[in-house]
Amino acid sequence: MGSINPEQPTSATLCAVVTGANRGIGLAITRQLAEKGVTVVLTSRNEMHGISALQSLRRELNFSNIIFHQLDVQDPVSVANLVEFIDIQFGKLDILVNNAGAPGASVDIEGLKGLNIDAESWLSGKASNIVQGFIRCTYSDALTCFDTNYYGCKRMTEAFLPLLKCSTEGARIVNLSSLRGELKRIPNQKIRDNFDDIENLNEEIIENMLKRFMDDMKDDKLESRGWPTTVPIYSISKTALNAYTRIIAKRHPQMYVNCVHPGFVKTDLNFNMGIIGTEEGAKGPVMLALVPANGPSGCYFVQTTISEY
Ligand SMILES: NC(=O)c1ccc[n+]([C@@H]2O[C@H](COP(=O)([O-])OP(=O)(O)OC[C@H]3O[C@@H](n4cnc5c(N)ncnc54)[C@H](OP(=O)(O)O)[C@@H]3O)[C@@H](O)[C@H]2O)c1
Repeated sequence: MGSINPEQPTSATLCAVVTGANRGIGLAITRQLAEKGVTVVLTSRNEMHGISALQSLRRELNFSNIIFHQLDVQDPVSVANLVEFIDIQFGKLDILVNNAGAPGASVDIEGLKGLNIDAESWLSGKASNIVQGFIRCTYSDALTCFDTNYYGCKRMTEAFLPLLKCSTEGARIVNLSSLRGELKRIPNQKIRDNFDDIENLNEEIIENMLKRFMDDMKDDKLESRGWPTTVPIYSISKTALNAYTRIIAKRHPQMYVNCVHPGFVKTDLNFNMGIIGTEEGAKGPVMLALVPANGPSGCYFVQTTISEY
């Protein structure tokens, strides 16, 4: 477990943790928060990648308010080590950005690129049939994806709750979601209703839904049971994350807990097929990380605009 130690912050300094910050949108979120004066803990599961990202930001910005710490959101020991580090250094956490994400699919990148699918067809699901042959979603992809995108976020949120409660500002939690997780994209009405039943929703219900998905996947019944057909694992991981966001927001009314689709951003996650850059994609998450007092909580945003779950 490694870290590069910070200068001691003043009590007025806001402190943020960004997961999966060594590249892509997480790196841009880190840069933008640091530019706004927040002390940001840039985390990465790979130490070398994290330190190299930190060094490039420090060269570019000449700021000392970015710190590196190792974090693998799938590893409870790694999460506990980060909690201990933040507790010793800051005694609180003001902003948690759950950005780390896994695609839930193995892709023939060259084959997919060769199809020249436009962004609209890709995002709307119109290209769903054409891309099937180039995207493989295995049981093992599902385990990793759910453990990162849903359980990883839950692991981080639960572990940091005591420190988030110490934030005098009312902590902000931002969960990086996706259009793919929107309820309207799930063909089966009953599945949609289960994820949308905010009065009764709890972690057990979400996790039972994920188990049902895994069972249906094993039996090759995803389509017939009405789960999403385009990148189904990733989609349901984000639907589960959205539902979790609503639970945490309801349970902790003193905090601001939201989830956001950052836009279709050109990163490794979508094989650089995205249409906006990472700086643009970071704008929504950064806005929510710094959402003013009495601002929204328990909401879903598409970039910077509030939207329907
Ligand atoms: N790009 C888009 O168009 C888009 C659209 C909607 C939502 N999102 C969401 O935005 C977030 C960031 O995506 P991105 O496009 O920036 O993807 P990316 O460039 O592929 O970056 C993903 C990041 O997550 C990290 N990560 C994966 N598993 C991890 C783990 N177990 N522990 C810690 N870090 C882990 C990766 O670390 P390594 O470098 O070690 O692999 C990497 O830093 C994701 O949650 C994604 O679902 C992206």
